[in-house]
This record gives sequence, C-alpha cells and structure tokens, in this order.
Amino acid sequence: MQILYQTKIMKELSDICQNISVKTMEEEVSVKYKIKGETKENSKSCLTCDCHGVQGKLKVCCPFCNKPDGLSRIHKVLEGKCQLLASVLDTVNALVVVLDKEGKIIEFNKSCEKATGYCFNEVKGRNIFDLLLVSEEVDSVKVAFNKIKNGYFPNENENYWLTKQGLKRRITWSNTALTDTQGKVQYIIATGKDLTDQRAAEDELQNAIHQYLRIKNSLKESEKLAAIGLMSAGITHEIKNPLTVIQGFAQLIKKNVEGERVLQDYITTILEETNQAIRIINDFLKLARFREPVLTKQSVVKLMGEVRASIEPQALANNITLEYKGADILPECMFDKQQLKQVLINLCQNAIEAMTDGGILTLSSGSHCNDTFIEIKDTGRGIPCESLNKLGLPFFTTKEHGTGLGLNICYAIISAHNGRIEVDSREGQGSSFRVYLPVSA
Ligand SMILES: Nc1ncnc2c1ncn2[C@@H]1O[C@H](COP(=O)(O)OP(=O)(O)OP(=O)(O)O)[C@@H](O)[C@H]1O
Ligand SMILES: [Mg+2]
Repeated sequence: MQILYQTKIMKELSDICQNISVKTMEEEVSVKYKIKGETKENSKSCLTCDCHGVQGKLKVCCPFCNKPDGLSRIHKVLEGKCQLLASVLDTVNALVVVLDKEGKIIEFNKSCEKATGYCFNEVKGRNIFDLLLVSEEVDSVKVAFNKIKNGYFPNENENYWLTKQGLKRRITWSNTALTDTQGKVQYIIATGKDLTDQRAAEDELQNAIHQYLRIKNSLKESEKLAAIGLMSAGITHEIKNPLTVIQGFAQLIKKNVEGERVLQDYITTILEETNQAIRIINDFLKLARFREPVLTKQSVVKLMGEVRASIEPQALANNITLEYKGADILPECMFDKQQLKQVLINLCQNAIEAMTDGGILTLSSGSHCNDTFIEIKDTGRGIPCESLNKLGLPFFTTKEHGTGLGLNICYAIISAHNGRIEVDSREGQGSSFRVYLPVSA
C-alpha cells in the first residue's frame, strides 16, 4: 500500500511542478497545491515539499532562483515513477480497492475490474456498500470498516461482491488504512483474494469424497449381504435334511395309526407344516442359488407352446379355459430357456390360484417398440392397489400356503435378461402380467 500512497503523492507533486514550470521568472507566483488531501498555498519563490512516504525528503527547487529546467526534470522523473507504480498496482495478482471514510471508491485496480466486470470509471466515487455488497452482508462489513476508521487495523474479513452481471464472488480481504501526519485515518485500503473458483473446486471435491464413501459403504453392505446369503443358504440346506426325515417318519406313523382319529389329525398337521417348511426352503434355495442366465437366440413362440402344454392339465382341473393368442411370427430373442420358462409357469401358477371359481387364462405375445412381450392374463380376483407396489418383495404373500418368493424370482430373472415386468390389475376383474424382453439383448 506504500506504493499507492507514493503514487498519489507523486501525482500531486507532478501537477504542482507542471503548474510552476509555465510561469516566468519575473512573476511573483502563488502556487496552490494539495498534499495528502490538504490544500496549501505558497507565494514564495521557493517551494519545499515535505512528503512522508516518498524516499527521504523531497526538496523541490524553484526555477525562479537558480535552475529554470529543474522542475520539469523532476516532473518527468515523477511522472515515470507514477506510471511504473500504477502498472505495478494493476499487474499485482490481488484485488486492491481504496475507499474514503464514507466508503466511496477512490482506487480500483485491474484485478477488481476483472472480478466484477466494472471498469474504474463506472465505480469511481460510488459507495461500495450500495454497489458491490450483498444486502445481507452490509452490516457485518460495516463493522470491519468502522473498526479501521476508528484506528483498529489491520483486520481481515470475507464477504461476497456482486458483479455487474449480478453474480456473487466470494472474496477474502486484508484491510488497512492510510493516515495523515497526525495518525488520522484518510483512506481504507483493502487487498483481496477471489476465492470463488477455489471454493467451487473444494465443494466438488467434497461431493466426490461423499460419493466415494457412499459407494464404499454400499459395497461393504453388499459384501455383507452376500456373505449372509451364502451362510443362510447353507443353514437352510442343513435344516431341510432333518425336515425330510421328519416328513418320512410322519408318513409312516400316519399309516400305523389309521384307526386313531386324534392321532391322524395330529400327524396330518405335522405333515402339512413340514411340507410347507420344505417348500419355503426349496424356494429360498432357488433364490439363493440364482445363477446368471445363459442367453441364446431363440423363438419365444416355441417356448410359449411348451409353457401352454405344461399348465394345461392344471388349468383343466381348476375349471379354467386356456386361450392362446400368440403372434405366429416374432423376432427371435436372447434368453435362457429354462429360466424364462420358470418365470412364465410361476406367473400362470399365480393366475390359476387367483381364479378359485374358474375363469379364462389368456397367453399372448407380440412386439412393442424394440421389445417382445409375453402376456399372462387372468379373470381372477385382481390385486388391491395397496398390494401392487409390494409385488416382487421377498415373502410378500396373501396366500395361506404361499411363500411370497415366486414373483421375487421372476423379477430377478427378467432383470438379469435386461427386461421388465409390467402389471395391470383391477380388483374383482383380473390381472395381466407382461414380460418384456429386448429383441437386441
Ligand atoms: N395373478 C394374480 N392375481 C392376483 N394376485 C396375484 C397374482 N399374482 C400375484 N398375486 C399376489 O402377489 C402375491 C405374491 O405372489 P408370489 O408369486 O410372489 O407369491 P405367492 O404366489 O403368494 O407364493 P409362492 O411363493 O408360492 O408363489 C400373491 O400372494 C398374491 O397376493
Ligand atoms: Mg406365486
């Protein structure tokens, strides 16, 4: 800031010198000059300037006494220095702003112009609090400003500047003051660093770190789940063996207590419950042992024929009419035949179980956009709205003997085929499950 101080003094001196040098030797001149804001008058033939801050004491000799070209030489030197110091101020890689005691802008270097989009002429003499500060921060900045005015400096603060385009830039300031010979504050000088880009980069880094930690945690969770899955599959398998033994013995006992009704009832319950437990275990093991599909290009039409043949006897036994509306020709798709068949049979099974009083089960197929679809439609009881979003959740069932794993397996298989299942259902009217497979998968 010493530089700025000197620049101002030198500018003033330079002006004075200019004025004097045009006068003639015969004239008694009265020279008005201003140093550090103070107006002085000198009508003597010799002018002495005592400028603090300029190296040493500057004695300006009067041309009326001895050297007539003395002042113009000094004028040139001073002008050169002024230019040098002004360009130092403009090239310095910091925002430098000088304010008077009211907060009016006196100096505004190139870095300030670059940061705000305003040029010096646009801001000169304007109050910084009205022009560049955001309203929420005016009070806090005034506190720092008043402290300096009252002699408490240097100090530091951080605040936003509003650019000409209305954008906010975060700037950290180091503030000090210029005083007169009595130590009274004349100007407030703030040197700032624009933190906007640095803060944005820091925020980006923080977000990246958070994302990384989230992924790391979820990977840990998946590893844990995979380990639990493996462990429970092992345990389940071990439970299945004693259950099968219990089932076998229960059947033997049932044969041996044919005449005893109470025992028969007990054994029937034991058998029903063990059957149910074994069913749950089988489904769970199917889920746990879920393997990646082996995709080969094949015909959906042919597969539907096989599914139809598999479910026909069960449909007949339940008083259900089986209708087939498959397209004759469909583009071949990539799928795992065994897995897709399992899905379609599961869906048909659910449809049959939903039509307790008989009905119509329709199998159809077709193309939609780039997908091939297979639809299984029933005229059964339908699915209540509140249950629709639970479909596919493991163990969601409304059936007395259901495991709630059937649809979960279907969804997992179709998702591994890059396909999807869409459900449409109306309570009391029926449901349709559409399996979409990408043709190009
Ligand atoms: N076509 C359908 N009509 C009506 N409800 C259905 C139909 N398909 C599924 N649901 C409902 O979704 C639930 C879950 O079906 P999901 O196949 O997963 O299990 P589940 O059939 O109950 O038991 P399981 O594991 O033996 O198949 C069923 O209990 C039933 O309430
Ligand atoms: Mg089912």
